[in-house]
Amino acid sequence: MCGIVGYVGGQSALDVVVTGLKRLEYRGYDSAGVAVLSDGGIAAAKKAGKLVNLEKELVDRPLPGGSVGIGHTRWATHGGPTDANAHPHLDNAGRVAVVHNGIIENFAALREELVERGHTLLSETDTETVAHLLAEEFSSVGDLAEAMRLVCRRLDGAFTLVAVHADQPDVVVGARRNSPLVVGVGEGENFLASDVSAFIAHTRSAIELGQDQVVELTRDGVTVTDFDGGPADVRAYHVDWDASAAEKGGYASFMLKEIAEQPKAVADTLLGRIDAAGRLTLDELRIPATVLREADKVVVVACGTAFHAGLIAKYAIEHWTRIPCEVELASEFRYRDPILNRRTLVIAISQSGETMDTLMALRHAREQGAKVLAVCNTNGSTIPRESDAVLYTHAGPEVAVASTKAFLTQLVACYLLALYLGQVRGTQWGDEINAVVRDLARIGDDVERVLETMEPVRALARTLADKDTVLFLGRHVGHPVALEGALKLKELAYMHAEGFAAGELKHGPIALIEEGLPVVVVVPSPRGRSVLHDKIVSNIQEIRARGARTIVIAEEGDEAVVPYADHLVRIPATPTLLQPLVATVPLQVFACELATARGNEVDQPRNLAKSVTVE
Ligand code: G6P
Repeated sequence: MCGIVGYVGGQSALDVVVTGLKRLEYRGYDSAGVAVLSDGGIAAAKKAGKLVNLEKELVDRPLPGGSVGIGHTRWATHGGPTDANAHPHLDNAGRVAVVHNGIIENFAALREELVERGHTLLSETDTETVAHLLAEEFSSVGDLAEAMRLVCRRLDGAFTLVAVHADQPDVVVGARRNSPLVVGVGEGENFLASDVSAFIAHTRSAIELGQDQVVELTRDGVTVTDFDGGPADVRAYHVDWDASAAEKGGYASFMLKEIAEQPKAVADTLLGRIDAAGRLTLDELRIPATVLREADKVVVVACGTAFHAGLIAKYAIEHWTRIPCEVELASEFRYRDPILNRRTLVIAISQSGETMDTLMALRHAREQGAKVLAVCNTNGSTIPRESDAVLYTHAGPEVAVASTKAFLTQLVACYLLALYLGQVRGTQWGDEINAVVRDLARIGDDVERVLETMEPVRALARTLADKDTVLFLGRHVGHPVALEGALKLKELAYMHAEGFAAGELKHGPIALIEEGLPVVVVVPSPRGRSVLHDKIVSNIQEIRARGARTIVIAEEGDEAVVPYADHLVRIPATPTLLQPLVATVPLQVFACELATARGNEVDQPRNLAKSVTVE
């Protein structure tokens, strides 16, 4: 939520910052702005709306050149998405400029103090108070990093701040508490950004900042301290993907590209985790086997699409390990006094590793003595750093706001984790684990096959562009898949979409069925748990008898559904627990195409941001 860039070096700061902001626009697109140090002062431009508005502004009213600058792309919290509320914010003398991600909870009191001291604040944001406070502190200490430390000690809430001061024109200073900030280390140039994609075209050397740290960047140096000026622990790392991974690569949208990348993402997430004998080797988990053996409850916490991955994980965990598993929305979890103790294993699932609700949930869990294991896609992000262990998904950078490839890899990671728990606890025999692992290893090809047969799904989606509602039904692991299908449609097509457990149909949702209403039904395999299959076939008949237009997702060879399917989408036969890996893909394609047919921008749906770093 909100993207931040800072640059100091030999290139045009404006070019570096604007290009970086393009990479970070997924984080928020309510407004964008830049500030460059130039001719002894600060030149700034900012504009409501997407980054393209700022780019036009910069063409109409070019800023002077400079090699030190900062930039921001905003997801509005305090104050509407106007030019005045856009970042950067400056003090009254125009000597300090600051950009911010997060919420400063005590800003009202700070603002009041400033007004009493004669400051004039021009926006409704919490951020502007920081610019004024920095100006005051700088005038007494004469050093921006020290001024930042003094100001940060007075702030409550979550924040990443990046600032420049006209009187210290070769320095950019950043600070972080609870929101992300990464340093990019170049030669004769250094970068600050909310994530590495903003500077990956320039350097792959990164430094992950810790909690409550202030960083000072010059062309040749990076100095990090804690908020008191004491030494700080940081971790340097090499980014293992390059700039092309964050490009559209010929696709019309990042979402289409990311959907297409799923077979590789799944394969990459399995890579190196299965030894030659087919045994799972999750050595990266730092939680000792004894702790895993003693766990008597698993609790999964996550938000959005990651929550749906958690709902599916529950089926696998309980089936393979026989440990009770609860799944909870992270935002609900910490406020209801959950029962946790040393024998509880909490799994926090997050693509970004930054989602504030998930972070708060894991902190709460650790305070109660529970062990926390993160399933995360972003190296060095806050959630894995604060967890006892991490299982990284290897989806590569996911840029489109609606999650696709990250979801599939979260599922793979959860399956591996469930099997590993089964292995450690002895609830699964080696050959049983091997059999599932073999199925998992094949599933990338199945996803590929699904992708190759999506044209009829796209054509169908286009015919539904004028509908108001689409319902989704599923059972067993198909239920979370239905929820995910509905979420995708809400996020992207702005349509009313609901996912239901098919067994609940007669307890209410069936009243929604009317002539021509599209209903997507995710059908379990007729093999294995055929009772469930038969029941859902009955459900399809029931809704069709009441006028629903049925869109049936069923595995190849399932002939029982044919008479009742107005539209039939075939997916490869897979073991029941793994079916979400193939059944979700048509729903992603469906939502993406329907949204496009409605004229929506799929990568940047309205009102949303990819990383929700505020509660
Ligand atoms: C936002 C995104 C969703 C994502 C959710 C959780 O709402 O729009 O796509 O599923 O956050 O994000 P996380 O990074 O924690 O997986």
